[in-house]
Amino acid sequence: MQQSIDEIRQQFLQALALIKTTSDLEAVKVKFLGKKGPLQQLMKGLKDVAPEDRPAVGKHINDLKELMTTECDQLEAKLIAQEESQQLAHETLDITLPGRKRFIGRKHPLTQAMDQIIAILVGMGFSVQYGPDIDSDYYNFEVLNFPLEHPARDMQDTFYISPHILLRTHTSNIQARVMEANEPPIRIIAPGKVYRNETITARSHVFFHQIEAVYIDKHVAFSDLMAAMDEFLKKLFKQDIATRYRPSYFPFVEPGMEVDISCLVCKGAGCHICKYSGWVEVAGAGMIHPQVLRNGGIDPESYSGFAWGMGLERLVMMLKGIQDIRLFTENDLRFLEQFTAI
Ligand code: PHE
Repeated sequence: MQQSIDEIRQQFLQALALIKTTSDLEAVKVKFLGKKGPLQQLMKGLKDVAPEDRPAVGKHINDLKELMTTECDQLEAKLIAQEESQQLAHETLDITLPGRKRFIGRKHPLTQAMDQIIAILVGMGFSVQYGPDIDSDYYNFEVLNFPLEHPARDMQDTFYISPHILLRTHTSNIQARVMEANEPPIRIIAPGKVYRNETITARSHVFFHQIEAVYIDKHVAFSDLMAAMDEFLKKLFKQDIATRYRPSYFPFVEPGMEVDISCLVCKGAGCHICKYSGWVEVAGAGMIHPQVLRNGGIDPESYSGFAWGMGLERLVMMLKGIQDIRLFTENDLRFLEQFTAI
């Protein structure tokens, strides 16, 4: 018995010396300490040992078992530490590498410009109102003094949903609403989308944005309109902008005007954006027609007002030198990514 204990110790120590990895160690443990291993055999053989020798032999077996477990535990700790440091050496982290850049979205150039325009006009004393995109013929046309046979009501220009419901053709659909809901002084802007059944070209689209402004009070004059418009354009373009007021007809204003600014794309030299005239129309404007004031419940004997409807796309095209209105709606990132902040 003693002999085989010594042999097993010998074999164990030899096997131990050959171990290189934790999995080698695992195999040795199973072999020597496992249920079918030599230690268990020795334990089983104990009953055949003469009773007087049993305590001594038993102690030897136990000593061997203890030797095996402590040797294995120590080696295991050493191997784990070794393997971990090898792994870490492979996985080194270079903290000097620049961080990975996250893609941050941005507002659409039209939204950026609209935000800025609203901020300027709010700074000038206007408050913001929103009219509906889908509206009645009444608020889009009738209350604004459009005679029934007016060409703007024609199916060619207006997207009708039903005979009396349409997509608004202008933000002027806010006008009568604010008059009905408020006593003068009224000083509001109404930003939003408008829709027209037009041919899509570099200059015009079937939907675009307008910013309506309405100012009604005692003694509002045409000079107030011009002053507010000039002040606004100066703030937006951060320079004095040449404007041109051309008489024009809108049934809800009298007199009516179209406001042009000098074309900033070609600097007045002539390009397809300004139709080679050097001027670009940016707004329709005028003094609110007495009948429209009356329709909105305001006495034209006591009050007067101005209104304008400004096209957002044209302004942004001027601001950013964009040559084609269709770019705004094509969702081409190569275009959109160029606009960080206005
Ligand atoms: N609503 C007009 C248009 O869309 C513009 C306008 C607004 C004209 C206010 C005069 C006064 O063409």
